[in-house]
Amino acid sequence: MERKVIFLVFLVNSLSITAQETTYPYDAFYPGTIWEDSGENHINAHGGGIMFKGDTYYWYGEHKGKSSKARVGINVYSSKDLYNWKKEGVALAVEDDPDSEITGGSVMERPKVVYNEKTGKYVMWFHLELKGQGYAAARTGLAVSDNPTGPFEYLKSFRPNAGVWPKNFKEEWKETPEDGDAEEWWTDEWYKALNDGMFVRRDFEDGQMARDMTVFVDDDGTAYHIHSSEENQTLHISELTDDYLGFTDNWVRVKPGGQNEAPTIFKHKEHYYMITSGLTGWEPNKARSFKAESVMGPWKGLGNPAKGEEANVTFRSQSTFVLPVQGKENAYIFMADRWKPDNHIDGRYIWLPIEFKNDKPIIEWHDQWDLSFFNEE
Ligand code: DGJ
Repeated sequence: MERKVIFLVFLVNSLSITAQETTYPYDAFYPGTIWEDSGENHINAHGGGIMFKGDTYYWYGEHKGKSSKARVGINVYSSKDLYNWKKEGVALAVEDDPDSEITGGSVMERPKVVYNEKTGKYVMWFHLELKGQGYAAARTGLAVSDNPTGPFEYLKSFRPNAGVWPKNFKEEWKETPEDGDAEEWWTDEWYKALNDGMFVRRDFEDGQMARDMTVFVDDDGTAYHIHSSEENQTLHISELTDDYLGFTDNWVRVKPGGQNEAPTIFKHKEHYYMITSGLTGWEPNKARSFKAESVMGPWKGLGNPAKGEEANVTFRSQSTFVLPVQGKENAYIFMADRWKPDNHIDGRYIWLPIEFKNDKPIIEWHDQWDLSFFNEE
């Protein structure tokens, strides 16, 4: 009898702690649960990225309804502590004009905003698919603002690097081989042709495909646009111009045929690390990690950074950004989306701390954690 009472008291206590602490305001992260903003609505900022300016973090992400199509645009939230977020509104709105590239019903994914010190502008890049074309357009979109919360002015979309060969491309790959390129997909010949630049050649004049993407700004202020290209088979890393509004001619291919999506990049102790996903649509898969001495590579594979139960599906999520925590050394947060393709608005956020073991990034599951995690060396 007594044991039953003790058990019940324990149960009630633990339930009330959980219920209390997973509603706004927060003093910890609860990955995978409903995450309320200050208006007590589940945060709607999927495929997001974070920019820090002044004393404030800004979280930009896709507004999603039931479907994944853009009906509202790109939302922005602000926070001082990373646990509690205020909705600032729509940073980049879809346009009513049916001829606009960002009309309602287009696909606007994975927005990333960076601040340009030289121009004082906030620059947003995102993956754009034109309305009614599925995922065929494969463009990168560009918008700017004078304020972190917008409104952002939409400038244009395009396929990058038209008419420019990658830096790590062999001279002989610039010409189609005499016997032509492989036609049947997934054969040995096809993989070889892919490696030897078949899709780069195909898209040379009109520009390279750009789908899942991120933007990374290095310590010297140089920014890079990293995106899945070549039918999602190969990552492309491109340097941006000084104003971050265009591409220079400096770009490389990374892991041809590697099927990396959802790229994220961060710098730790003078090395660059990249965490990506595999290619399985909205279904989760095993993450990958890489290390390099330069953003432009070469990138060395380090394997799956996730460890423990459900590590083979990245805790049922897909990477979107790695956030360096301000004011803390060696403190990086792995941000990922647990997609809900039947009802996208219910998609969850998986934020987990990154640790380093043997110079490799490691991500483990925590039901609950807070920033003091990074104090424990
Ligand atoms: C996986 C990508 O990572 C997402 O951003 C989205 O484009 C889906 N594919 C669409 O199937």
